[in-house]
Amino acid sequence: MKFQLPRGTRDILPEEVAKWHFLEKAFMKIADNYQYREIRTPIFEHTELFERGVGDSTDIVSKEMYTFNDKGGRSMTLRPEGTAPVVRAFVEHKMYGNVDQPVKLFYRGSMFRYERPQGGRQRQFNQIGIEALGSADASIDAEVISLAMNFFYKIGLKNIQLVMNSLGDKESRLRHREALINHFEPQIDEFCEDCQKRLHKNPLRILDCKKDHEHPLVKTAPAILAFLNDDSLAYFEQVKAYLQAMKIDFTVDATLVRGLDYYNHTTFEIMSIEEGFGAKATLCGGGRYHGLVEEFAGPQTPGIGFGMGVERVLLALEKADISLPEKEVLTCYVITAQKEANTKAVELVNTLRQADISAEKDYLDRKIKGQLKDASRKGALYTVILGESELETGKYQLKNMATGEQEEVAETELVATLLTRMK
Ligand code: HAM
Repeated sequence: MKFQLPRGTRDILPEEVAKWHFLEKAFMKIADNYQYREIRTPIFEHTELFERGVGDSTDIVSKEMYTFNDKGGRSMTLRPEGTAPVVRAFVEHKMYGNVDQPVKLFYRGSMFRYERPQGGRQRQFNQIGIEALGSADASIDAEVISLAMNFFYKIGLKNIQLVMNSLGDKESRLRHREALINHFEPQIDEFCEDCQKRLHKNPLRILDCKKDHEHPLVKTAPAILAFLNDDSLAYFEQVKAYLQAMKIDFTVDATLVRGLDYYNHTTFEIMSIEEGFGAKATLCGGGRYHGLVEEFAGPQTPGIGFGMGVERVLLALEKADISLPEKEVLTCYVITAQKEANTKAVELVNTLRQADISAEKDYLDRKIKGQLKDASRKGALYTVILGESELETGKYQLKNMATGEQEEVAETELVATLLTRMK
């Protein structure tokens, strides 16, 4: 019986994993600079968490969730996104009571959405995201956005564009909602069944309907920015001013509607404008959410964050011709010139590995030439050859594979010498 990957999933092979490590490391360094700490939540949650959190009129909840009943008959869902689980954990662990406020968290891991797979869109994909809970200060909005932008710059992605919008506060959104209903209602029968249901439930969702996005009424729909009250406008202006102070360029797109229901005030997306990327260029999306903690029975707490698609970031790097490391460094390859040296080779690689020096040996009974070839194929920085005289004297020729230079090193000095060379 031959098996294949489920549609929309990928194996990340060892050749690629070094790139993932590189991105994760770079992100963790930046998260540390900004003082965000990692949180790990389960891969599945109670279905209701997403229904209430992300919103049951969204495509994610109504069409794309991997939902199943567990053996106890409870409805569970593989997480389609990371914000609702993080907010659940924030409430469950009463982090609103932490002395340290705001609570700044980051996460990474697989998310699951039953979408039509295509370039940059999978059913299991990976996000790195952050959430800052407990502050409604506009400088946090600017911080969250700058963290994402600085990450992209750090890994070498320059051709990116930051697009922003504001959905305003509750009052502004209610006014906008009325305007949308008045706009669509006379011709709502020209829209798909979902949109007809959305009209009174959540008319904002009509704007990002995948079926009706070409309808002329969608293009002429009233934009939220015209409905922002003074407070919401002032907030948005402050966020923009902070971004300008950090010299972060952005464009305002009044039609930017994110596909999740929890947003208010600032929303943003960062796109790759690399040529040939195609339709799916959004690398990162996020925004403010003020009602979610309360929705999950916590005290009224403002939050803001983003999620970025790791596969899409890797794709953007590829399109931009930016090469990332493909494998981890191999410091020393131990070569055996005769069978009698096998035990010493086992002992030596063990000593090196225990000293945090990456080491490798032959396992296929290759001749010296074959082992040397293996060492250079693996990119070994150094080799030592164990032959008769080496076994007798305990002195090895340490060869620098790049320069060809050799130096004699006593076995007892090997670890110290390699550690110095690695610095
Ligand atoms: P989202 O826009 O649904 O937001 O997803 C964020 C990012 O995840 C997207 O910009 C994209 O890069 C990636 N992504 C989404 N779906 C797929 C897919 N099917 N295949 C590959 N990549 C995908 C959220 O998930 C929010 N939780 C973000 C957030 C955090 N808002 C506030 N805090």
